[in-house]
Amino acid sequence: MEKFVVHGPCRLTGEVKISGAKNSAVAILPATLLVKGKCHLENVPNISDIRSYIEILESLGSKFEYISPNEFIIDNTNVNSAIASYELTSKFRASYYLLGALLGRFNEVQISLPGGCNLGARPIDQHIKAFEKLGATVEVKNGNVYAKKKDALKGAHIFLDVVSVGATMNAILAATLAEGTTIIENVAKEPHVVDLANFLNSLGANIKGAGTDTIKITGVKELKQVSCYSIIPDQIETGTFMVAAAATKGDVTITNCIPKHMEPITAKFREAGIEVYENGSSIRVKMDKRPNSFSIKTSPYPGFPTDMQPQMCILLAIANGTGIIVENIWESRFQYTDELVKMGADISAHGTTAIVKGVDKLYGSPVQSHDLRAGAAMIIAGLVCEGVTEVYNTHHILRGYENIVEKFNSLGANIEYVKDDTEGLAK
Ligand code: UD1
Repeated sequence: MEKFVVHGPCRLTGEVKISGAKNSAVAILPATLLVKGKCHLENVPNISDIRSYIEILESLGSKFEYISPNEFIIDNTNVNSAIASYELTSKFRASYYLLGALLGRFNEVQISLPGGCNLGARPIDQHIKAFEKLGATVEVKNGNVYAKKKDALKGAHIFLDVVSVGATMNAILAATLAEGTTIIENVAKEPHVVDLANFLNSLGANIKGAGTDTIKITGVKELKQVSCYSIIPDQIETGTFMVAAAATKGDVTITNCIPKHMEPITAKFREAGIEVYENGSSIRVKMDKRPNSFSIKTSPYPGFPTDMQPQMCILLAIANGTGIIVENIWESRFQYTDELVKMGADISAHGTTAIVKGVDKLYGSPVQSHDLRAGAAMIIAGLVCEGVTEVYNTHHILRGYENIVEKFNSLGANIEYVKDDTEGLAK
């Protein structure tokens, strides 16, 4: 069984460069299907979710020419299939963007219901509602989603019942080449929504209002790339290194990031007494004591991101005092707290609330990575702990963090990625 072996405790110091945003890249890669030609992308994170996406696109007929692992040209001229294999698409959540992108280009689309992190119920009713408003018929059966259109999709007024990143981006993808004007209200405002709109606009799309509550899309006949597009830096990877720096009482400069995207996290850091300095596209985090406790309520951007909730819990686990986390997006996001309790944390989690009483020390232990962000939190906990922490289910972490071991070790951590452990958790 594969595992990360983290030898703690350590103090992180130095400089680390952030990779391209996973949640942008997983929408921009399928968005290239709207172009019957070539697209040149850079700052694409080399993570397993992206490698899975590349495999899916290749299975549909896309050709890739690599300049580096993070920069390539995709040629979608000969894509002739809109049926993505169950085996490939069921692996991860963001495969749902194939629906919007392929529906923009083809009349009939089939993908499996999306997989991904187990965070509780993950409905796609708002995605389906958006496609239907645009004139498609959508059917879910045998674990697959089938979407069809007779003629071109037609611009429509779509009001989302919940603020959903996925439904917002899927509606944008489907409406870009639709006839007429589409207005989408109550949309998500996350940086990756804006990045997708910027990418499509750079190809000739007409999308206005991304980053606000209402998006207006005037359909265009075709898209064409004129220059290389660079994906924005990853907000959550930035936040993960910010937490690791503070939790290990370190001094780390995080480069290639967008400080504006980090505001909800930076505000909490300052409440906790952690020093944060912003300088252009870098952030320095410095800490020399236990943090003060604080409370978090997760909400859509610009609120506190749910994907930073498990990492922030490590700061609370070692804080002076008691903090409260209220999770408002995903119903089952506290499974990881049982793992922290094994390390000596004092956490009681019920329903959507966790009460975290800070303790002086955590102790190394074998722990599971329940999902991508919980896995990152386990690594940070390992860096703080006395002794050795073994983090299992590494595949979750590798879905979303590029070179995570190398990056942490370059800051002074001692983490090994052990591939063939025959003893596993049985010991
Ligand atoms: C995206 C992110 C994920 C992050 C989440 C919230 C990607 C690939 N994943 O997930 O990391 O945790 O945003 O920031 O970008 N909902 C519905 N009906 C729908 C869609 C969503 O009720 O059709 C609900 C969900 O159950 C959830 C809330 O809306 O409670 C937000 O979900 P959404 O923003 O869609 O999350 P994802 O796009 O799946």
